[in-house]
Amino acid sequence: MDEPGPVLDGMLTRLRPVREQDLPRLLAILDEPEVAAWWRRSEWERVDEPGAQTLAIESGGAVAGCIQYSEETDPDYFSAAVDIFVGTAAQGRGVGPDAMRTLMAWLVDVRGHHRLTVDPAAENARAIHVYEGLGFRPVGVLKSYERVEDGVWRDALLMELLAEDFRRA
Ligand SMILES: CC(C)(COP(=O)(O)OP(=O)(O)OC[C@H]1O[C@@H](n2cnc3c(N)ncnc32)[C@H](O)[C@@H]1OP(=O)(O)O)[C@@H](O)C(=O)NCCC(=O)NCCS
Repeated sequence: MDEPGPVLDGMLTRLRPVREQDLPRLLAILDEPEVAAWWRRSEWERVDEPGAQTLAIESGGAVAGCIQYSEETDPDYFSAAVDIFVGTAAQGRGVGPDAMRTLMAWLVDVRGHHRLTVDPAAENARAIHVYEGLGFRPVGVLKSYERVEDGVWRDALLMELLAEDFRRA
């Protein structure tokens, strides 16, 4: 990670930089079947890449998951990509949408992004529903985009949002 990320308060969540002591909880969440199906542990191990920032999602004082953003800083292609996982125990209560909305508001209002993208697995109907609710629109299917296991690749759905389409409420 380049620099410590922000601390952001939403309606249901607080987003803040990941701490060393969060890792056992986050890795346990990544092992949960409902999360592992969509976010492989190897992805977590790759998050420490230039330009990517990972924030812990706290809900009710406990770590509920993670949210990540990476920024394309070339002024001619300025945009940000977002990804998220929420542990099974915290799902179904609006935590994921609130964390997304909170980070998106910061990316648009503070960082000045006019365009955001997400790329869920094409079969991840739940994530796609959440992203559509925030204003993302499907761009198209990215064929064989993501390796699930050796020799097995799955499609993703590229989705984009322009700042004026952001459904904040
Ligand atoms: C996707 C995720 C971030 C959503 O966060 P969440 O806190 O679970 O979201 P909520 O339960 O509050 O809301 C889910 C919404 O999807 C809907 N939903 C649930 N299952 C669904 C399905 N199979 N198909 C379509 N919609 C579905 C719910 O009805 C709800 O819609 P509503 O708010 O319009 O009523 C979270 O479930 C998660 O992290 N899942 C595992 C990892 C993952 O998929 N990450 C995204 C990678 S791109």
